[in-house]
Amino acid sequence: MNIVTIVGSIRKESYNMQLAKTMQVRYKEKLNIEIADIRSLPHYDQDEENNPPKSVKEFKESIANADGVIIITPEYNWSIPGVLKNAIDWASRVEKVFIGKPVMAAGVSIGMAGTLRAQLHLREILTGIQAKLLPPSGNEVLINFASQKFDEQSGQLVDDMTLGFLDGVVDKFVDHIKSSN
Ligand code: FNR
Repeated sequence: MNIVTIVGSIRKESYNMQLAKTMQVRYKEKLNIEIADIRSLPHYDQDEENNPPKSVKEFKESIANADGVIIITPEYNWSIPGVLKNAIDWASRVEKVFIGKPVMAAGVSIGMAGTLRAQLHLREILTGIQAKLLPPSGNEVLINFASQKFDEQSGQLVDDMTLGFLDGVVDKFVDHIKSSN
């Protein structure tokens, strides 16, 4: 299965990017995970949407061609970061590539709340653009206290309980994709 992962943080040491890379390696037998380059997307501009820059075209094509999308986001000011909203806004116009697309959400924070508020906003946005969300019940990947759960040297998620939970959610996401076809 081909999966595009969109990470809502573009900083070099991002824990959310570390989660994306952990998943790329851990699930490589069942999922081919490509991480989208949203840093190269310009600000959304309605004047450009019918003939957008190459980076936007490539981003949208990658989603259109994927079997599913995993969105991994930090929480910024109780919501999702602007870079992620910007990427979703591009993807929601003209060729509306999220319609019917299976999507799984996850997030990592350094504090207690584990991106809960950001993911609630994300789910509203994805509902608005008719994505086919993995239902939240039992599937909320809310990783808190990141510095205790990621290995500083390897940059991998190493917390066994979290990894076990994630394995189960990914299995359900695979079933969700299969049942969407
Ligand atoms: C934050 N952070 C944060 N954390 C949180 O739990 N709730 C919040 O509302 C916010 N707000 C917020 C705003 C801005 C502008 C920044 C830069 C940060 C902290 C955030 O969880 C932390 O920086 C994470 O490490 C960001 O994820 P990455 O970059 O490590 O993937």
